[in-house]
Amino acid sequence: MKIISVANQKGGVGKTTTAVNLAAVLASTKRKALLIDLDSQGNATTASGLKKENTLLGLFEGKNINEIVASSNNGYDVIPGGEDLVALEAHIRTEPKKGFIEESLSELKYDFVIIDTPPALNSLTVEALISSVGTLVPLQCEYYSLEGISSLLNTITSLGNRGLSSNKVVGIIRTMVDMRNNLAKSVSDDLEKHFPDQLFNTLIPRNVKLAEAPSHGLSGTKYMPESLGAKAYIALTGEFLRRIEGA
Ligand SMILES: Nc1ncnc2c1ncn2[C@@H]1O[C@H](COP(=O)(O)OP(=O)(O)OP(=O)(O)O)[C@@H](O)[C@H]1O
Ligand SMILES: [Mg+2]
Repeated sequence: MKIISVANQKGGVGKTTTAVNLAAVLASTKRKALLIDLDSQGNATTASGLKKENTLLGLFEGKNINEIVASSNNGYDVIPGGEDLVALEAHIRTEPKKGFIEESLSELKYDFVIIDTPPALNSLTVEALISSVGTLVPLQCEYYSLEGISSLLNTITSLGNRGLSSNKVVGIIRTMVDMRNNLAKSVSDDLEKHFPDQLFNTLIPRNVKLAEAPSHGLSGTKYMPESLGAKAYIALTGEFLRRIEGA
């Protein structure tokens, strides 16, 4: 089982869209996938057609992990997110339980667990990073994008240095790309220079079908598989699998 976090503390960069579509494409390739929504906004949960209840907080209220796993119409299973996660965040901030996510998943059988994290480097995000073998970092090609990810990258490095995690950045993903925009092009070039090994070749275009899909409780790849956005996430998942499985 490979646990992968999707993280960037900047809001609205495409974390949830990436987590949902990646999980859906993995499931469509017959890999068993679990999506954990660690965001109190619960966007990955509604995008999966589920209610924002039965979050990971349940584990601290005596529930068994099997009681909080739900199945979705996108082919993967979900541990939902929702407002309860505010309480869970506060709880593990005062009483850290390092690696509890990985530990609680040990009895489950999945090929991939994808964790959608909130737009903050809070205690839940750090827990996700500790429990993961890899992190995907979606970002928009904007002026502050590079600065924004340095604290995330530093956190991942420092967890490794302290022996708390073997997490590595699996890939940086350019999202909502519009190459007609000159600034986007120049930031994209900068990213290629700074992160030649981490940057994924696949670009995720700005595509309205990806934005519409969540209101139908579906991934973009299920909602409109022929759209450019869906095709991009299919290609991205291929690139991800080649990196992570060395296939
Ligand atoms: N490639 C895309 N094309 C068009 N719209 C997109 C694309 N990716 C994401 N969006 C839309 O942009 C908004 C932000 O995306 P998303 O929710 O995935 O970002 P996020 O990083 O998870 O945000 P937050 O930090 O609030 O959790 C959403 O309305 C989403 O539907
Ligand atoms: Mg999100």
